[in-house]
Amino acid sequence: MKRTGIIGTGKYLPENVLTNAALEKMVDTSDEWIITRTGIKERRIAADNEATSDMAVKASKQALSNAGLKPSDIDVIIVATITPDMFFPSTACQVQYKLGAPNVAAFDVSVACSGYVYGLAIADQFIRGGLYKRALVIASEKLSSVTDWEDRSTCVLFGDGAGAAVLEQVDEGGILGVHLGSDGSKGDLLQLPAGGSRMPASIKTVENKLHTIKMEGNVLFKHAVKIMADAALAVTEPLGMKGDDIDLIIPHQANIRILNALAKKMGVDPEKKVYLNIEKYGNMSAASSAVALTEAVEEGRIKKGDRILMDAFGGGLTWGALVIEW
Ligand code: COA
Repeated sequence: MKRTGIIGTGKYLPENVLTNAALEKMVDTSDEWIITRTGIKERRIAADNEATSDMAVKASKQALSNAGLKPSDIDVIIVATITPDMFFPSTACQVQYKLGAPNVAAFDVSVACSGYVYGLAIADQFIRGGLYKRALVIASEKLSSVTDWEDRSTCVLFGDGAGAAVLEQVDEGGILGVHLGSDGSKGDLLQLPAGGSRMPASIKTVENKLHTIKMEGNVLFKHAVKIMADAALAVTEPLGMKGDDIDLIIPHQANIRILNALAKKMGVDPEKKVYLNIEKYGNMSAASSAVALTEAVEEGRIKKGDRILMDAFGGGLTWGALVIEW
């Protein structure tokens, strides 16, 4: 059976850069603490009038252009986001309209930081199953809109941005394996509590800042290392692959210490085999792996025939790992 490949990638990062030095003036933190504890030096912040779909459209245009395609060539649009423009209509419908794509299937996927891997996996199934020929998978997040800018334990971590990929059937390489998972029992470790049906918006929810991200960072940290390592194993083992067989790991960029621990568990050299751009953008949830993949391609870190492991973990909890031969 023919496989699904990525034939074009794109990204969009807002112009506004928020440095650690600027954060030192906002909360009780230091450049030194942020760099040593997380690896982040700066992050991008979208403009007030820039919503998730606006960033998604810009990343999509670049991905389509790199694939040599037009919006009319796309059969399905999947947007991974936890910061949609609004509850409904979906951000994917906004993207369909703004791109001028045909009236094709369009929907959002809400799996937090694992969203891009989930989106790619869904697109792979659609294409291999024969329902659709080409898919546009986008991860776009405006985390600055749900960040508590007075909470030093979270506000230093997140940023805004978008990445996109066009997928279709390929003759060589493509997606070799996928592993997805979830554990809802640990959902309270990372959540945005209010605004849904459990706790609708009220003056109280706003006063108590319940429309912003709440995270138990150090508990999550331990889960992240184990889950990402297990997910990597779950996807590589059935393919008969080991750490050495992977040319580059594109992980979700949550914390440089998590990624170093992951590399150690996998027995690979983090300098050579783990792609990092966390220092420039922080954690952009699902958009992190999408932008990382795009930049790894742009920088020539991925060559034809390379085997790439994408490995993500996030709120839900959710996780997703995927091996693709480029
Ligand atoms: N600046 C300075 N000090 C800070 C700080 C900041 N921005 N944020 C927290 N601290 C302090 C804490 O108050 C605590 O102080 P105390 O010891 O006096 O109580 C101390 O630093 C250690 O806090 P802790 O939360 O244990 O730090 P940590 O080493 O676990 O690092 C994270 C915090 C958030 C960077 C880290 O836990 C992490 O990356 N977690 C996982 C994130 C993740 O995977 N997210 C989900 C996937 S998207």
